[in-house]
Amino acid sequence: NDFRPIPTPPGAPLVGNTLQIPSEGPAQYFAELGRRYPEGIYGLDIAGVDQVFVYDPDLVTEVCDAARFGKPIDPPLSHVRDYTGAGLFTARDDEEVWGEAHRILMPAFGQRSMKAYFPQMLEVAQELVGKWQRSPGQPVNVPDDMTRLTLDTIALSGFGYRFRSFQRDDLDPFLQAMLHALTVSMGRMTQLPLVTRLKRREDRSYRDSIRQMQELVDNVIRERRQGIGTGERDLLGLMLDASDPVTGKQLDDENIRDQTLTFLIAGHETTSGLLSFALYSLLRNPHVLARAYAEVDRLLPGDTVPDYETIMKLDIIPRVLDETLRLWSPIPLIGKVALQDTVIGGRYRLKKGQKTSIVFPLLHNHPKAWDRPQDFDIDRWLPENKAGHHPHAYKPFGDGQRACIGRQFALTEARLALALVLQKFAVADPADYQMHIKEALTFKPSDFHVRIQPRREHE
Ligand code: HEM
Repeated sequence: NDFRPIPTPPGAPLVGNTLQIPSEGPAQYFAELGRRYPEGIYGLDIAGVDQVFVYDPDLVTEVCDAARFGKPIDPPLSHVRDYTGAGLFTARDDEEVWGEAHRILMPAFGQRSMKAYFPQMLEVAQELVGKWQRSPGQPVNVPDDMTRLTLDTIALSGFGYRFRSFQRDDLDPFLQAMLHALTVSMGRMTQLPLVTRLKRREDRSYRDSIRQMQELVDNVIRERRQGIGTGERDLLGLMLDASDPVTGKQLDDENIRDQTLTFLIAGHETTSGLLSFALYSLLRNPHVLARAYAEVDRLLPGDTVPDYETIMKLDIIPRVLDETLRLWSPIPLIGKVALQDTVIGGRYRLKKGQKTSIVFPLLHNHPKAWDRPQDFDIDRWLPENKAGHHPHAYKPFGDGQRACIGRQFALTEARLALALVLQKFAVADPADYQMHIKEALTFKPSDFHVRIQPRREHE
């Protein structure tokens, strides 16, 4: 047999590679390291745990075999579990409540439900437009405003709750608490447990942030129970009323709280990154921007208010989103764990329990799967070209049964927001923004401002 060791950069005694990983941007470091290992796989010893990183599309294909690999809940997700508990994102594969919640909530994420959420999505997107109309010629902070948009959208459509983020200058305290908690959770990934225990002050403020988020969630649920909410069959309505078709069980109060916080976080953090990267990509590729404007002007002439059917007819904008998710995947990696001793690529031995991360920035650019991988080319996503793609070289929404439940929600919301922005505004980047990624579990462009002008005078 032709077994090979998994290539691994030299580490230090005791701490292994832990101290080589920058706490500001671990995932960006994992992506950079890949350029040293064209084999498509390497290993690191992080805080006493051997981890494997894969990005060769054929190795990824094997790691996505559900018979051999599951989803691990270990750092950083085991830390995120401090506040999202057994919510869908951080539940272990073997926790029964994962299946129960998944089956109860699936109907809320089908295409029919997207149509039902559309009025709320539109209302919030119009608030973004309203804010930008009040600042013609001014620079706007794209990731901040996209965060307002996506947070308000999931809260209103999923829970009938209004953050009213566009009515305040700073970001909602919920977001500040969340950002702090996510940053601490991520930092702990590269900390030896002893160090974590020594950082008492950090732990106190971490617990405070968690408490603050949970208070908000309790408030959201209380408002609904008191009948102030919409009382519809949205996410919260389903969780409070529906039972699992298989076990007949309902979700308990603690799990409803965990799921609610999960959706408030998972439901906005990534979509705001997607929208920010999409606008960046359009500004960098004026010929694509021109095609997007032409599409919007054809389907939504003048001030036509978009309806759901028209948004579903868009063709250029969805392909802009697909290509943005390839080059700028907001989630940079997902974890898998070997369920038994196994061999991948015919040569790399993995032990049962081996944590194996799939690195999207490398996979999504892999020359085995993509021609001119660095080019922003939306025509890759024409149906006739898509058919020829490598089946496991594009995973922005994850993989298998633990893949993203909110994919349609995110894509519907993002189509609408981009279409409305392009219908109303000429967007320019006079400062020639240079991409700088900020990492807090997900990727976002840091400090990205654009200048906007109304396209039509009367606005
Ligand atoms: C899971 C990406 C939007 C809710 C995931 C996973 C990825 C992902 C990669 C798998 C994580 C893993 O394997 O550990 C994205 C991206 C989004 C997006 C790129 C936007 C562009 C949303 C939205 C919602 C949502 C809008 C909710 C409304 C969830 C949940 C899970 C999940 C609940 C866990 C699913 C499970 O394990 O059962 N997402 N997501 N996501 N996402 Fe998303």
